[in-house]
Amino acid sequence: MDKLVIEGGVRLKGEVIISGSKNAVLPILAATLMTDEPCVIKGVPNLRDTATMLKILRSLGKSADFDKGTVTVNSTGVKNFIADYKLVSTMRASFCVLGPLLGKFKKAKVSLPGGCAIGLRPVDLHIKGIKALGADIAIESGYVVAQARNLKGCHVYMGGEYGSSVLATDNLMMAAVLAKGKTIIEAAACEPEVVDLAEFLIKMGAKIKGYGTPNIEIEGVKYLGGATHHIIPDRIEAGTFMLASLITNGDIIIKNVLHQHLGALIDKLEESGAFVQKGLNSIRVGAKRKLKPVNTTTLAYPGFPTDMQAQIMSLMAVTPGISVITEKIYPDRFMHIAELNRMGTHIQKEGPHAIVEGVKSLSGAPVMASDLRASACLVLAGLVAKGKTSISRIYHLERGYENLEYKLSKLGAKVWREKE
Ligand code: EPU
Repeated sequence: MDKLVIEGGVRLKGEVIISGSKNAVLPILAATLMTDEPCVIKGVPNLRDTATMLKILRSLGKSADFDKGTVTVNSTGVKNFIADYKLVSTMRASFCVLGPLLGKFKKAKVSLPGGCAIGLRPVDLHIKGIKALGADIAIESGYVVAQARNLKGCHVYMGGEYGSSVLATDNLMMAAVLAKGKTIIEAAACEPEVVDLAEFLIKMGAKIKGYGTPNIEIEGVKYLGGATHHIIPDRIEAGTFMLASLITNGDIIIKNVLHQHLGALIDKLEESGAFVQKGLNSIRVGAKRKLKPVNTTTLAYPGFPTDMQAQIMSLMAVTPGISVITEKIYPDRFMHIAELNRMGTHIQKEGPHAIVEGVKSLSGAPVMASDLRASACLVLAGLVAKGKTSISRIYHLERGYENLEYKLSKLGAKVWREKE
C-alpha cells in the first residue's frame, strides 16, 4: 500500500484543471443499465470508484470500455439483476443500480451497503421511494430484493431526518422513468449531480421536469435508448483546490469549474476575506489579506456541502480565532479531527459541532486517512505544515481525486508517494 508524503510550506501557484464529477458519473453509469443501446459518457474521471462502477456494470451483463476519459457501455445480452455484496460493500454508490435494475427488469437484488467511516448511512428513503412505485421489497440475507409486475407512477415525499437524499432521489427518478404514468417526487435532492443525471436520462428518452428543484415530475415512458453525455466538473475537487490555494497563501486559477455550483463555499470564503474571481469556466482564488474565522454549517444543496466540511476545517485550523463547524448531514463525520490534532490543531468535537481554535502553525506528522474527504483535509494540512506529513491509506484519496499528486506538483507542492 502507498502513502502520500508532503513537505509543507510551498505557496501554490498556477493553473489546475478539474476532472469530471465522481458523484455525477456513478449514477449516470448505473442509468446505462436501462437501455440495450450503446451509451457514451465523456469527461469520466479515472478513479477507484469509477472502476468499481464499471466492474458492477460488467457483472450485470454490460461491456464497459474506459479510454482516455470516455466510457462506452454496450449490452452483451446477459440479463443479470443481482448486485453482489463484494462490490456494493466497497462503494456505497453501487446501491444506485437498484432503481435502474427494477425499472428495466422489474426485479432487482442489491446488497445492502452497510455503514461506513462517516456514519450509519441508512437506505430507508431509497426503499420508501421504490415501494411507492408499487414494488414489493424484502430484505433477505443482507440483500434488498425488489420486484414488481408493473411499476406505477406515484406521489411521494422523500425528505428524511437529515433532509433530502441524493442517491435515493436518483434511484427513484431512474425507476420512475420506466413506470406507468406520472411520478411526483416531493423534497427531492437539488444537487447538481441529480440535475446531470436527469439531463442524461432525458437524452435517453425520459420525460422529466422540475429537476434541480425539490419537486421533480416524471412522466413514465416505455423505452429508453442510448445516449452520449459529458459529465459536469467535480465541484468538490474544485472546492478542495480553492482551499489548497488559501491554506498555502497561494494564488491558483482553477479551470473546468462551474462557479454556480460553488455558491455557498465562495460566499463563505469571501466572508473570511479571500479573493475569489469568477470566470466563465474558471475561478481564481488567492489570499490577498489575512483570513478571519467563519462559522460553517453543512446543509443539502445549495447549502454548504458536507463533502467540503473536513477541508474547510483544515483552513479554519490555521486561521487565528475561533470558528464553529456544524455538521447537519452526517453528525458523525468527524474522524479527521483526531488526525488533524496530531499535527498541532486545536479542535474539539461537541456533538455535531467542531470548535476550532485557529493556530499559527502546524507540524508535519504521520497521519491516517479514514475516508475520502478526511484524506483531503489531511493533504491540505500537510501543505501548510512545517516538515513532512505522511498520509497512510491513500486508497481513500484515489476513490475521488484524479491525479492528485500530479495536479498539486504542477502547482509547486512537494508531494510524492512512498511504499508503506
Ligand atoms: N439518509 C437517510 N436515509 C436514506 C438515505 C440517506 O436517512 O435512505 C440520510 C443520510 O444518512 C444523510 C442524509 O440523508 O444524513 C443525506 O445522505 P444522502 O443520501 O444524500 O447521501 P448519498 O446520496 O448516499 C451523496 C454523495 C456523498 C455526499 C452526500 C451528501 C454520491 C455517490 N455520494 O451520498 O458523497 O456526502 O450525497 O451530499 O453521490 C463523497 O463524495 O465523499 C460522499 C460521501
